[in-house]
Amino acid sequence: MTELGYQRKVHRDDPYTDAAHLDGRWDEPIAIESLFAPAESPFAIEIEIGGGRGLFAFERLAFDPEVRLLGLEIRKKWATIVDRKLRATGLGGRSRCYAEDARVALPRLQPGGRVRAVFLHFPDPWWKKRHEKRLVLGDVVQSNIERLLMPGGELFVQTDVEHRAAQYRAFLDERAALEPKGDAPGDPLLAENPYGARSPREKRAIADGLPIYRLRYAKRA
Ligand SMILES: C[S@@+](CC[C@H](N)C(=O)[O-])C[C@H]1O[C@@H](n2cnc3c(N)ncnc32)[C@H](O)[C@@H]1O
Repeated sequence: MTELGYQRKVHRDDPYTDAAHLDGRWDEPIAIESLFAPAESPFAIEIEIGGGRGLFAFERLAFDPEVRLLGLEIRKKWATIVDRKLRATGLGGRSRCYAEDARVALPRLQPGGRVRAVFLHFPDPWWKKRHEKRLVLGDVVQSNIERLLMPGGELFVQTDVEHRAAQYRAFLDERAALEPKGDAPGDPLLAENPYGARSPREKRAIADGLPIYRLRYAKRA
């Protein structure tokens, strides 16, 4: 049973029984570096929350060889498919995708101040009022993102839902630990994605000609 009060369901014909989960109990700390293969040269740890089909991870790893990417995806199916593919393509030492709820997994990660970037691509697509309580970007996730980021570390959030962008912006502008890092000084808006990698939904939004609202903040020194 997790803090959020649900148990992991196991079905007899579950094709995803090999889903990767973080070791240990839901409240035990985990050394974030232990999730990657040891390396002789320094590496930069990044986290993607809710990566879905995982395209961003593969493009990001190809774009920057220093990157070690931790994926937390609540949907077991997608977490398992992405994690299997990471390992099958020889990238498992640099990136894993765990079938985990970010609201439970992030508080376990130690130490703080070790993460270079956190990505939330097109989270929270629901727009009905009753879905507000399911928003990923709430206080627990946000305070842990701030704890994990190194000074100058970046939080990148993008969405194609205009009122969600306004909501994220209102929420993030109030965070004392963050400063906006967009195209213009004092503004978090970015016209382009600067990370050399796109998420599946980002690609679809571009193909469909939808506007994309991109916000970037940095942790204050
Ligand atoms: C709209 S999809 C976007 C997928 C992908 N980021 C993209 O841009 O194509 C949102 C994703 O967030 C995942 N998600 C929602 N709540 C989550 C949580 N609490 N922890 C981890 N992943 C979550 C969903 O399962 C889904 O894959």
